[in-house]
Amino acid sequence: MSHHIVEFQNVHFRYPDGTAALNGVSLRITHGESVGIVGANGSGKSTLLMHTNGYLLPQSGTITIGDFQLGKKTRQEIRKKVGLIFQNPDDQLFMPTVFDDVAFGPLNLGLSPERVSECVHEALETVGCLALGDKPPHRLSGGQKSAVAIAAVLAMQPDILVMDEPASHLDPKSRRALINLLRHFHHTKIIASHDLDLILDVCKRCVIIKEGSIVADGPAEEILSEKRLLEENNLELPLSLQKRDISSGGTMDEITKLHHLLEHWAEHNTEHAKTYRDWSKKAEALGKKELALILKEIADETVAMDNLFKKAMGICC
Ligand SMILES: Nc1ncnc2c1ncn2[C@@H]1O[C@H](COP(=O)(O)OP(=O)(O)OP(=O)(O)O)[C@@H](O)[C@H]1O
Ligand SMILES: [Mg+2]
Repeated sequence: MSHHIVEFQNVHFRYPDGTAALNGVSLRITHGESVGIVGANGSGKSTLLMHTNGYLLPQSGTITIGDFQLGKKTRQEIRKKVGLIFQNPDDQLFMPTVFDDVAFGPLNLGLSPERVSECVHEALETVGCLALGDKPPHRLSGGQKSAVAIAAVLAMQPDILVMDEPASHLDPKSRRALINLLRHFHHTKIIASHDLDLILDVCKRCVIIKEGSIVADGPAEEILSEKRLLEENNLELPLSLQKRDISSGGTMDEITKLHHLLEHWAEHNTEHAKTYRDWSKKAEALGKKELALILKEIADETVAMDNLFKKAMGICC
């Protein structure tokens, strides 16, 4: 699969009881994008996500994932590349032990038993569940089930990671760990959530869906600071922006909004610089000296931008 582009063209889907859940969704996501899908309960988020790996197939319209148009014949191939984490982990965990559940995907990819074991170990370690390998999934707590479901998908090393409410059962520390994990996942991410702070932290782009149609699509920081648009869709400003909204008396004008966005961008800038520096070290350890130097230069330039953010904040209001 060369480009990993996800493209929905005028997709419609109706459940057998007649509920029209998708009403002409068109959406193009390119490789490496991080896209948050938000909207009221019942707006169609899960239905949309279940179409990305062919768990549901469109009744009209087309879905293209990389080189394949989604259909009965191609969905097995597509599932090797698209890792979907369901809203309810019980829909995903069905093997006798946690180990078997996480091993299921890699085994189906035809990996050797040793490689499968490595993948399972790595994935369980990433989500902090290494000690749970022998437990039956139905004996886990809700948060542990979610973490194991995430591990089961990570173990397949997908090119496109699709998550439906990944943090809803997680404690704050595990939620933070998930956010860090997602930030370091550099392939395509599509995440549906009511946790708008998570979306703001992890996604550059945000799509609002209402009654099965896309009603807004743009940079996450812009969409998620549009109080009225959010309220029209049963949503609220992310908590991080609410605090700032309250401190400005709830009347955030454009300049105040820009100031808050500058603060937000500056926070991310520092984190990005750290990521580039970490990868520069990794590249050096891998013997890629020239690449390491370029990454270090990118990190230095990024740090230098801090001054520009401070300057902009200083004269903004
Ligand atoms: N299996 C089903 N059979 C019939 N209707 C369904 C089924 N699953 C979902 N629906 C309906 O399809 C619409 C979209 O549901 P969906 O689960 O995609 O919403 P959602 O945006 O994920 O909601 P939530 O925020 O509650 O997770 C809703 O009207 C819902 O009642
Ligand atoms: Mg849902």
